[in-house]
Amino acid sequence: MSHSAPQPIEISASDALKGRVTVPGDKSISHRSLMLSGLAVGESRIEGLLEGEDVLATAAAMRTMGVTIERSGDGIWRVWGVGVGGLLQPGQALEMGNSGTSTRLLAGLIASHPITATFTGDASLSKRPMGRVIEPLSLMGADITASPGGRLPMMVRGMNPAVPIEYTLPVASAQVKSAVLLAGLNTPGITRVIEPVATRDHSERMLAGFGATLTVEPTNRGRVISITGEAELKPQDIVVPGDPSSAAFWAVAASIVPGSEVTIANVGLNPTRAGLFTALHMMGADITEVDPRTVGGEPVADLIVRHAPLTAIDVPPDLAPSMIDEYPVLFVAAAFAQGRSVARGAHELRVKESDRIAAMVAALGACGVVLEEFEDGLAVTGTGGDPIPGGATIASLLDHRIAMAMTVAGLHAKAPITIDDAAPVATSYPTFFATLEELQGK
Ligand code: S3P
Repeated sequence: MSHSAPQPIEISASDALKGRVTVPGDKSISHRSLMLSGLAVGESRIEGLLEGEDVLATAAAMRTMGVTIERSGDGIWRVWGVGVGGLLQPGQALEMGNSGTSTRLLAGLIASHPITATFTGDASLSKRPMGRVIEPLSLMGADITASPGGRLPMMVRGMNPAVPIEYTLPVASAQVKSAVLLAGLNTPGITRVIEPVATRDHSERMLAGFGATLTVEPTNRGRVISITGEAELKPQDIVVPGDPSSAAFWAVAASIVPGSEVTIANVGLNPTRAGLFTALHMMGADITEVDPRTVGGEPVADLIVRHAPLTAIDVPPDLAPSMIDEYPVLFVAAAFAQGRSVARGAHELRVKESDRIAAMVAALGACGVVLEEFEDGLAVTGTGGDPIPGGATIASLLDHRIAMAMTVAGLHAKAPITIDDAAPVATSYPTFFATLEELQGK
């Protein structure tokens, strides 16, 4: 899980991308599959689990707390849960690597168990704010000691029984919402989260699917999500749909590289996740949805993406929660559009695996793209479809999405772009570069 040996990679201008790719399992759903299966009573089976480092960090942590987890084939995993309330005292620190989702959601689980856990992470994760989960979980009774600034390493001492709360999210964050709901699983009474702005709803869908008593009401204060503890979860057979956040790279790559036609199979299109495809449609991208179906309770389709001239847009700020991880690659798309695109209202980008506004300003700027940085977003002036100058070395800053977005940019650049370290890609998309070569016919 360490990224101690940087893996530089040089990306040169590409011929047309052609073919069919199947994207790996959704990262958010994969984390939740392991956590909820681990809390069910009995054996769950997961198909299509993302076998990236972040999800493996969740699996390792759940094992440390007494859950039996076995891999029985490619993406096929079996989990023998210990039941809600049954997590055991971990005998060692929980090593979270690069994964904010593992950290924040597991902190929620532990907050209402009678156990204490210490969380550690890599240099990127150790800079990220944990105050956003510390606040509500402390209100529920957990005793949390973090490093200065509310960072890792952090020790969570759970409270049992914990106190149910009603909590209005101060930031649009599915991780914070999920941490509170997961803490609510083992908390007697009704724990309520109010989200003024809707964020990805996988936790709600999956908790209900595992048999928790959970309701969602739209109100004028936002979505009110109530979970009743102490819950009993029933084991499930889960099929994880493909990750739209991984599909995003191929959708943009096929849109900007002339002559491309790529079919991206099995793309999760939950409306709380599909904002990038809406934005690309607004820019004039040629994306056709085929064979819409339901996989694991989530809407899924195959996408056929053909090269198309893109036009600059003002990205609607209300799309932000449904494409929060896709801004780096959206900025790349904007770099090839005709005109100046403006994205505001995306302040959360500053606290991801890197400060993604600053990282993309540095990366695209070094490649000769004209940009304007705002506190909450970016303006990008596009080439109108011509290659960008390129010819720079990009710092990926332990951020998988910066590495993959700039790889896509390099596919249509006059001079090669070097990514200083492509190793972080393994956190969410271990087969990314192999798939790129397939699409290039190599
Ligand atoms: C995630 C929520 C989002 C997203 C992250 C995964 C989740 O984070 O950026 O990659 O699985 O709940 P925030 O909750 O910080 O917005």
